[in-house]
Amino acid sequence: MTKILDKLKNIAFKLSPHLAVKMGIEFPMKSPNRVFLENAIFQYINQNFGAKSPRAACLFIGTDKRSWHYPNKLDLVLHTIDIEKKKAIYGNHQHHIVGSATELDRYYDAASFDVIIGNGLIGFGMNQPEQCDQLLKGAHALLKEDGLLVLGYNDGPDFVNFKVKQTTAYRLFDEYAPDAPGLGASTFEFGDHTFVFLKKHSGTPEISGE
Ligand SMILES: C[S@@+](CC[C@H](N)C(=O)[O-])C[C@H]1O[C@@H](n2cnc3c(N)ncnc32)[C@H](O)[C@@H]1O
Repeated sequence: MTKILDKLKNIAFKLSPHLAVKMGIEFPMKSPNRVFLENAIFQYINQNFGAKSPRAACLFIGTDKRSWHYPNKLDLVLHTIDIEKKKAIYGNHQHHIVGSATELDRYYDAASFDVIIGNGLIGFGMNQPEQCDQLLKGAHALLKEDGLLVLGYNDGPDFVNFKVKQTTAYRLFDEYAPDAPGLGASTFEFGDHTFVFLKKHSGTPEISGE
């Protein structure tokens, strides 16, 4: 019975991930960092931003088979962007843009998002320090004053030749430790994958090139 159900789920997904989202179909991943993202992080985001009226807005950067069902997981209006046209199928149908996270301010208004999640970009395509700076500067511009940036990245030597926390634009943010079950720190390491919670820096830090 379970096998038949799995086959039907796969068929629906192959026909259209958008249809599968509407039907509430999921294929949860089991890796510890994905479980952490989909449970502790999403729960925190839903609890803190999910009840806002008008609804809070979240930008999820980079779309994939792993993340196609996130419109069902987040109680915010979910916008998605990916540089690859073929990944649009995994984005949130009416709120997806094909474009680069190095130029977010081309596509979105300033101070228009409550939450931005940039997971699996640094180390998986955005592998130059300049790209990391552009991503952080863009996220800073797009976030509302009390907005939250969740960055998930791989900056070990097997992935990139820089450290995210040493990039220039990292200074635009303060690390933030959510006061919530399963969280309580700003940075979480899962092998070579790191998550960090960031809020906009309260002052105006000087960063070169500005
Ligand atoms: C490892 S997947 C992560 C997907 C998703 N964020 C997640 O957590 O499941 C990396 C994705 O980032 C996209 N990507 C890489 N560089 C990008 C850029 N400059 N702008 C937007 N998307 C980019 C790739 O096309 C790919 O779909």
